[in-house]
Amino acid sequence: MKYPKEYLDEIKTRLKVSTVVSRNVNLKKRGKEFVGLSPFKTEKTPSFTVNDEKEFYHCFATSEHGNIFDFVMKTQNLKFGEAVKFLANLAGMRPYTFSKQDEEREKRWKEYISIYNQYVQFYHEEILKNEDAGIAREYLKRRNLSKEEVKKFKIGYVKRKPSFYEKLKNQFSEKVLIESGLFYFDEKNKIFVERFRDRIIFPINNISGQPIALGGRTFQEKNYLAKYINSPETLFFKKGSNLYNLDLARKLSNKIDHVYLVEGYMDVVGLSKNGIENVVANLGTSLTERQISILNQFFDDIIICFDGDESGYKAALRAAESSIKELKPEKKISFLFLPDKEDPDSFANKNGKDTFIKFTKENKVPIHKFIFKHYIKETNDDPSSMAVFEKTLRSIANTIKDNFIKKYVLEFFLEQISSLTPHSSFRKKNIYYKKEKSLKTTQKYFNESKSLSPVELKEFSLLYIVLNNLNIFNLNIHLIENIKFFTNENKLVLERVLQELKNKNNLKIDDLLIDKQLIDKIFKFASIKHILNNNKNDEQQVLELLEEIKRDLKNYELEYRIEELESKFSKDLSESTFNEIRELKKLQNIN
Ligand code: UTP
Ligand code: MN
Repeated sequence: MKYPKEYLDEIKTRLKVSTVVSRNVNLKKRGKEFVGLSPFKTEKTPSFTVNDEKEFYHCFATSEHGNIFDFVMKTQNLKFGEAVKFLANLAGMRPYTFSKQDEEREKRWKEYISIYNQYVQFYHEEILKNEDAGIAREYLKRRNLSKEEVKKFKIGYVKRKPSFYEKLKNQFSEKVLIESGLFYFDEKNKIFVERFRDRIIFPINNISGQPIALGGRTFQEKNYLAKYINSPETLFFKKGSNLYNLDLARKLSNKIDHVYLVEGYMDVVGLSKNGIENVVANLGTSLTERQISILNQFFDDIIICFDGDESGYKAALRAAESSIKELKPEKKISFLFLPDKEDPDSFANKNGKDTFIKFTKENKVPIHKFIFKHYIKETNDDPSSMAVFEKTLRSIANTIKDNFIKKYVLEFFLEQISSLTPHSSFRKKNIYYKKEKSLKTTQKYFNESKSLSPVELKEFSLLYIVLNNLNIFNLNIHLIENIKFFTNENKLVLERVLQELKNKNNLKIDDLLIDKQLIDKIFKFASIKHILNNNKNDEQQVLELLEEIKRDLKNYELEYRIEELESKFSKDLSESTFNEIRELKKLQNIN
C-alpha cells in the first residue's frame, strides 16, 4: 500500500535535509548550501553538498543524489517503509498504520481539504471583487491593509447572508459539512448556518500550506459578538498543534534563524506588511509545548512578543512556564514586551521595520531571566517568602526536559539567589583580590605551609626545567613562549626569564634577580626534579618532558576556559557559547 502524499510531505516539510544528514555527516555552511565529506566514499576534500531549499543532497564524488528518504535508505540500508517510519519518528509524527480506518481517514481528509479550499477561494474572490464586500474592503483599508496582504494571506469576507452551504451540499454529505466546523445546524430555525457569516476570515494553513481552519473577525461594534472566532477543533485541526502562518514563515528558516511568535492574526499580517515575515501566531489559546517544539524544528531562536498590557504579560508568563520545558542547548527562547497599549501590529505600523528590530535587539529578555525577574518581584525579604521563591524556581527548572539545560538554568537561579545574600558577595571579593597580588607581596606572604594547587605544581616543574637548562632555551626561546600560567607569581618569573633570555647570551640563574625564596620554593616543590636529575644533560629528554608539561598546562587552560564559558552559558544560554564549549571539549579529548 502507498503512503499518502500528505503524510510524506509533512515529514519532508518538518525535517530539513541538513538536519537529517548532519546526524551522519559533519556539515559546514557554505553560502546557501552545506558541504561535508561524502558518506558514500572515503575522501579528504568534501564533495558532498546539501541544499535545504531544494530539499536534496548531492555527492559529486559518486553522483549519489536524493531526498531525505533516499539518504536514510542508502546510509542505513533501510527499505522505503522503514525509512518513512524512522523519519516520521524523528519529525515527531505518529507512525502511519495502514488499516481500514486509515483508508477512511484518508478519504475524509481529501473531502475536508476540498471543502476548505473551495470555501477559502470563494470568499477570497468575493472580498477582492464583489460589491457586497465593500464594507469589508473599507475596514481593511482603515487598518492599512492593501490588496497585496489580502492576497498573500488569502483573506476573505463571508457576507451577512451567505449561501455557500447550498453549493457544497451537492458535493458533500451533511455530516461531512458539519464536521468541517464551517457550518452548524440551527435547531430553532431548522437551517444550516455559516459560522463565519459577516466576518473577515483568515485561513489557517497546515505546514504544507493547505487551509484546515479559519479565524474570523467581526468589524461591527456589537459587544455581544466575540471579536474573533476560530474554527472548532475537528478531526484534522488541533489548535495546540498548529500555528498561524507557519507554512509561509518556515520557508524563511534557511535564511533567518529567529521567528516572532505573536498573539493575533492581525499581528502576523501587520508585521509581514512591514517587512517582517518570520512571524507566526498561536491561535487564541495558550501556547503549548508542542507548538514550541514545532517551531524549534525550523528556528533556533523564538522571540515571544505579546501585547504590552496586563493580559499580554500574564499570557507571556504562562507561555514561559510551558515553553521552558522544551528549551534545548542549541535553541533560544526570549520574550519581548512592547510599550503599554501597543501590540506588534500597531507598534510596527507606527514605527516601521528597523525600529521594531532595534527595539527587539535592545529589549528581549531570555526566558530564564524573565521567569526569575517575575518571581523576584513577587518575593519579600522574609525567609518564608524567600523559601517559596526558591522552591518555585527549582520546580520550574525541574520541568525542563533537557538535562544539560536543566542543570544550567537551575545553577543560574541558585547563583542569582545566593548573590542576594551579602555573605557570598564578600567571598567573591576575596577571590578577586587574590588574583591581583603582585610579585612583591606574594614573596612577602610566601608561606611554605600554604597548600599548593596541581596547576601551581605543574608550573613549578616547568620553571624548574627552564631554570636548570637556560643554555638550551637561550637558543630556543620560542619553546617557552606563549605558555599560559595561572599563578601570578609564576607568570612573572617566566616573563622575567623570557625577557632576560632575549637580552643576554649565556644567562645564569643569578642574572635573573629573582627573589631567592621564590627560587627555593620552585626547586623544592617541582616534582619533575626527581626525573630530571637522572637525565641531566640529555637535551632530548628535557625537551620531551617540557612538551609533556606544556600539554598538561594546555589542558588546565582548556578546563579553566570551559569553566568560564559554562558559567557564562548558565547566564546567557547562547548558542555560540554552547558551541564554543563543545569545541573546547573536543580539543580536550585530542590533547
Ligand atoms: P486581540 O484582542 O489582541 O486582537 O486578540 P488583535 O489581534 O489585536 O486584533 P485586532 O488588531 O483588534 O484586529 C489576539 C488574538 O486572540 C484571539 C485571536 O486569535 C486574536 O487574534 N481572540 C481574541 C479570540 O480568539 N477571540 C476574541 O474574542 C479575541
Ligand atoms: Mn491589534
